[in-house]
Amino acid sequence: SRLVVAIDGPSGSGKSSVAKEAARRLDAAYLDTGAMYRAVTWHCLDAGTDLSDAAAVAQAVRDADLDISTDPGTERVLIHGTDVTATIREQFVSESVSAVATNLEARAELVRRQRELIGEHARIVAEGRDITTVVAPDAQTRILLTASEEARMRRRGLQLGQVDGAALKRQVVERDAKDSTVSNFTTATDGVYTLDSSDLDFEQTVEAVISL
Ligand code: CDP
Repeated sequence: SRLVVAIDGPSGSGKSSVAKEAARRLDAAYLDTGAMYRAVTWHCLDAGTDLSDAAAVAQAVRDADLDISTDPGTERVLIHGTDVTATIREQFVSESVSAVATNLEARAELVRRQRELIGEHARIVAEGRDITTVVAPDAQTRILLTASEEARMRRRGLQLGQVDGAALKRQVVERDAKDSTVSNFTTATDGVYTLDSSDLDFEQTVEAVISL
């Protein structure tokens, strides 16, 4: 039988690493939808698309030839054959991604592709900001992974290495504020289980997801 696990959560909630490990243990595919937003953002920057031109951004997203690995053991994102796996994690992409995330036409295109990818797998864990609500509201298991702002800033800080407090705050809190204009990922809708990981370590969080 089909298994679709949808996980949403804010920046630094740990959803990517937790979802990926849960997918491995469930012998399921894994979809990082944030990587798709990042990849098409990179594509816009690379193509010189004016990020303030909504129609141009939407067109660039529709034109983007995006290939993302759904193997939880292989992180790989290609745009028109160029491997952007590492580049899309860089600060310049993080700072521009809201131009795509707040673009409704671009979102519609990415949601369509995400549903297609999910449909290709019998078992899959998909994570992002709108998976439980928009992309896969019919998933068997829907989880909102939360953590206190303090815990999320601590984790993001560990992940990025030595960065100053202001940059960290920009990474976590300000991007959350931008994101919350398009999707509400801080309160779970009906049927979505809220898993607060503030006081759980990685292993405990993965186990909680698996048991759900
Ligand atoms: O770095 P972080 O884990 O916080 O974010 P990500 O999952 O890599 O996603 C990067 C950005 O893509 C987010 O800040 C959102 O603006 C956007 N995004 C979205 O709008 N909807 C999704 N389903 C996933 C990501």
